[in-house]
Amino acid sequence: MISQQTIQQILSRIDILDIVGSYVKLKKRGANYLGLCPFHNEKTPSFTVSPSKEIYKCFGCGKSGNSISFIMELEKYSYVEALKWLANKYNIEIEETYVSEEYKQIQQTADSLYILNQFAQKYFTQQLHQSEEGIDIAKSYLKERGFTDSIIDKFQLGYNLNQRDAFSKAAVQEQYNPDLLLKTGIVTNRDGHLVDNYRGRIIFPIHNQSGKILGFGARIIGKNDRAPKYINTPENEIYIKSKILYGTYFARQSIDKLDECLLVEGYTDVISLHQAGVENVVASGGTSLTTDQLRLVKKYTNNLTIIYDGDGAGIKAALRGLDLALEEGLNVKLVLIPDGEDPDSYVNKVGADAFRDFVNANKKDFIIFQLEIQLKDAQNDTHKKAQLVNQIAETIAKIDKAEDFTKQQDYIRQCSQMMGIEEEGLTNLVNKHIREKLQKQAQKQANQKGAQDAFIPPPEDDSFVLPMDESEFLLLLNKDEQNERALIRCLLEFGLKPWDESKTVAEYLLGEINDNDLVESANLKHIMEIYEHWYKEGLEPTAKNFFYHEDQSISTLVVSIMDFQHEVSAKWSEHYDGKIATREDLYPLEIKSCLTYSKLRKIRRLIEENQRDMANTTDFEQQILLLQTHQHLKQMEMDLTKLVGTVIL
Ligand code: GTP
Ligand code: MN
Repeated sequence: MISQQTIQQILSRIDILDIVGSYVKLKKRGANYLGLCPFHNEKTPSFTVSPSKEIYKCFGCGKSGNSISFIMELEKYSYVEALKWLANKYNIEIEETYVSEEYKQIQQTADSLYILNQFAQKYFTQQLHQSEEGIDIAKSYLKERGFTDSIIDKFQLGYNLNQRDAFSKAAVQEQYNPDLLLKTGIVTNRDGHLVDNYRGRIIFPIHNQSGKILGFGARIIGKNDRAPKYINTPENEIYIKSKILYGTYFARQSIDKLDECLLVEGYTDVISLHQAGVENVVASGGTSLTTDQLRLVKKYTNNLTIIYDGDGAGIKAALRGLDLALEEGLNVKLVLIPDGEDPDSYVNKVGADAFRDFVNANKKDFIIFQLEIQLKDAQNDTHKKAQLVNQIAETIAKIDKAEDFTKQQDYIRQCSQMMGIEEEGLTNLVNKHIREKLQKQAQKQANQKGAQDAFIPPPEDDSFVLPMDESEFLLLLNKDEQNERALIRCLLEFGLKPWDESKTVAEYLLGEINDNDLVESANLKHIMEIYEHWYKEGLEPTAKNFFYHEDQSISTLVVSIMDFQHEVSAKWSEHYDGKIATREDLYPLEIKSCLTYSKLRKIRRLIEENQRDMANTTDFEQQILLLQTHQHLKQMEMDLTKLVGTVIL
């Protein structure tokens, strides 16, 4: 873990203009700076940086955040990676704490493996281009398959000679450690001698998102039934198959830009599509998609299009993991490549434009596609059909993120039509599955909560922190939530100021909010919890410290809360002690008005609920009770309304 001291040091050096400015050309506009948004295509600048608030916001696409989230977003870094990037930029030495010996060891091995892989790649590339065997056999094979020199260079393809230990010798001569060499899988131990593993094979380096080489795929030349077509690096400290998608390094920009990721099966499919100019493509390497791989895709886009060929066993395997994709909130589409072709051969045959057209014209929604196939399979078997209804309900229930609600409704409509059942019935079934899932989750959380410390530092690497899309989030806001946000804003802004002789604003406000249960949004409650924790620890729970919270969703939320445009009451600009009053002067009034207004809304909601209960009960005593409650609530409402008259709203 990076020490808190180092983090502080980095944060103190951050200059948002400098950081954003190294990616975006900024021009001064009043107190702010303006430039072309790096997150979406635009011709007129709407990307605004506020150096005083240390935040940015794009009024075109709605993206907003601070220096760290900017780097995370642009470079797809985790929080820790972003800190390291900054430390490097500002020449700050990173002091790591709590690093176990074991962890250090892994880190060191990983670093050495990267270096060794880089050496190997250079060696293999050299053999491909300079050795007679490489040129005659390997290069001519690649040429025959239609790969150009520039694409061979781009993907750093190589060749290992068909000899017992050509590479091993070269590596030993460079004094690479034999144990590490064995770990890479490029060499193996035969009776105490290091010998080569990938003899006479084309070498495909496999890069991580930032271009470092994790391992290799080694393909036999031509056809040979007696040996596996590909040999891959064995699992080691850096080659973790479940986290790798081939081609992400070369595809990431294009995926970002086109907001779609194409997934194929093989290395050569990726390379051929690139050569044809279709660059937003990665390969699964023929196994079921894992959650980690899907999250990798999700760093760049929500739209995953899986391209598979009829006989691709690998893609069929990939399909098995697709319910996971729904849970990750990905929109999954499928395209089947016509008979006998794979994406590589198909794009070579028809060209890039026709390939894209084909994909766009034929991509089918994953859920609908699955249902079609299964309906055919079930025919008139009512038992199978009943099972199918249940299964599809379960699948649809997995799309339960609030922002996906309409998507879910669409699926229910389409699927019930296809199956010839009532929409309402399917809706009920889906809801039942959602309830079950929520119960399970609640149970799990309850079990975990006790053990968890609220301040676990973020994982060192591979932490996929997904920033919440603020514009989507704001759309979901209703009046109540806006009101709740106003309360939190008061807390963040004025919490440390005095309320009266005995209390700070934080103490007063938190008490009021908790006593009256005024904040119901789980996200905002979470902010309050952190606030209380920091406050009690004597740390500074200011908005700024929240902006740099390691949990991206928290900092984004706080940025948007602080950004929240207040409708300043006309009375606020009245003279106050002879000068124009500012919000700063009037904070007690603002807090009171927020509280009163929140309470009023709460009471009104309670009144409504109570009225509904009254309408629904036939029990006389119950009705009397509800009526009394009603009168009591009405009285409270009146008192509060009177208060509203005296407090500025
Ligand atoms: P070409 O046949 O050269 O076009 O390669 P391809 O990448 O299209 O191969 P294919 O469609 O047969 O397989 C798809 C992917 O599955 C490959 O890119 C590999 O990742 C993986 N794969 C195929 N065969 C093997 C094998 O024998 N062993 C291993 N480990 N992986 C394989
Ligand atoms: Mn192929």
